[in-house]
Amino acid sequence: MEGHKILSCKDITKIYPNGLKALDKVNIDILNGQIHAIVGENGAGKTTLMNIMYGMIKPSSGCLFFDGKRISIPHPQKAIEIGIGMVHQHFMLVPSLTVKENIVLGSEKKFRNSFGKLDFKLMRYSVKTLIEKLNLPLNPDSVVGNLPIGKQQMVEILKVLYKRTNFLILDEPTAVLAPNEIEDFLSFVKKLKQEGKTIIFISHHLQEVFQIADYITVLRKGKNVGSFKKEETNKEKISNLMVGKEISLETEPPKSFKENALLKIKDLSTRKGQLKHLDLTLNKNEILGLAGIAGNGQEELFDVLSKETFDYEGKILINDNELKGKSINEKRMMGISYITDDRLKNGLAANRTIFENGIAGHHNNLKYFHFFINKNQGVDLLKRIIEKYNVRGADNLKEKVRSLSGGNMQKILVGREIEHGPNLLVAFKPTAGIDIAARKLIHETLHKLVLSGSSILLISNDMNELVNLSNRILIIFKGKIVGQFTYPDYDIKTIGYYMTGLKENSNNA
Ligand SMILES: Nc1ncnc2c1ncn2[C@@H]1O[C@H](COP(=O)(O)OP(=O)(O)O)[C@@H](O)[C@H]1O
Ligand SMILES: [Mg+2]
Repeated sequence: MEGHKILSCKDITKIYPNGLKALDKVNIDILNGQIHAIVGENGAGKTTLMNIMYGMIKPSSGCLFFDGKRISIPHPQKAIEIGIGMVHQHFMLVPSLTVKENIVLGSEKKFRNSFGKLDFKLMRYSVKTLIEKLNLPLNPDSVVGNLPIGKQQMVEILKVLYKRTNFLILDEPTAVLAPNEIEDFLSFVKKLKQEGKTIIFISHHLQEVFQIADYITVLRKGKNVGSFKKEETNKEKISNLMVGKEISLETEPPKSFKENALLKIKDLSTRKGQLKHLDLTLNKNEILGLAGIAGNGQEELFDVLSKETFDYEGKILINDNELKGKSINEKRMMGISYITDDRLKNGLAANRTIFENGIAGHHNNLKYFHFFINKNQGVDLLKRIIEKYNVRGADNLKEKVRSLSGGNMQKILVGREIEHGPNLLVAFKPTAGIDIAARKLIHETLHKLVLSGSSILLISNDMNELVNLSNRILIIFKGKIVGQFTYPDYDIKTIGYYMTGLKENSNNA
């Protein structure tokens, strides 16, 4: 039957063990045979909700109904049994195996003959039938690792369908696709609907969503802020619900900024392709905010600026010196500092002590050269950071840094990077996941830093942070700057349209 409620969430709440409430009494009805898009900014709770439907995690409260009956899905095996399948944000294919092997992996039992041997002919035939039924450009014998991403994704979906899935969850499937692959993918999803499948489609890109969805639900900060039939809403309304309008202007950006370029990025493209012809200029004493929904090239921009061997085309000039080929130490000597939210991967070393982490990167600062000899200076520096940034729990500098809470780790990292007195600070989500007091302190610190002569490239998906700190805000979408706003003319609605791809004009950035 088409159109009846196949899966419903009733008051689903999820509180993670660390106390974070990712979902707050979410109600949602998914109708049979329909494409239901779920949209929302990064961190809105989309993946959490999908993981609950697929039995990967348990809700803290609330319940699920499947086909009208209350049901519990304690593990993915149960989800698969009732015909629910999920394609994750990261593929789970084996690159060295062929298309057919990947598709049947986990379902091989079906192909064992009475002697327990695999019947390869039957296996190939069944996969071929499935591919032909959906009219896909795939060869069952190709090795998956050699296929372009778009085709790998089809294999991933076929693998899920192969388990007799009628209800398919696609978690940001288009995020990994090149623009030319997206159209094919969307027709494929429509085709699946014609085959009678029910599909949950997660995406940030409203053009795509409006192209294929029947229903749209917007999640924001863990809440369902609206479910609509596509015909009864429009892109602008959905964008406003996604990004929100209630921005509180608590502070204003520092007034020191002059039109005098420190960092110039010209026609920057990366081989991996997340960045495409990106241009931007950061002036001296300026905080330049870069807004965008995660996955539009921000991570690669940070990598290009911070990593040693990141290949790119185009120019990155700091005071007219090209950054290409510079080692991390040379970048530090040029006066660049980095803050990242990815504390334990890039910023701090979990198993090193608070002391070691607090002085890392300062080694080359002549003052701290041979820091073993100048250990006292190192200790002084660290004590200064701890006091100035109000780091709690760091009395014993020989403790491992991981013993600190996330907010306190971030304060050490911020302190360490700022005490360099950098010319340029590249801050990537500097306050993600930390408490309000620590956030306020870090914001004040960034503010003071530009007044003392530095410039900051602030990459963030926290609109409040961007609006309160930035002299200008640029919007990145699909690897390019698509819009620019100058303080105080921040029109959050319009910024949201740029972020979700509803508006695009790449002039004056
Ligand atoms: N395992 C986890 N432990 C703690 N917090 C988590 C965990 N997984 C996700 N979160 C947090 O829950 C919130 C929602 O995350 P997620 O469901 O991944 O959002 P989305 O998919 O919409 O980007 C985020 O704040 C995220 O940091
Ligand atoms: Mg997600």
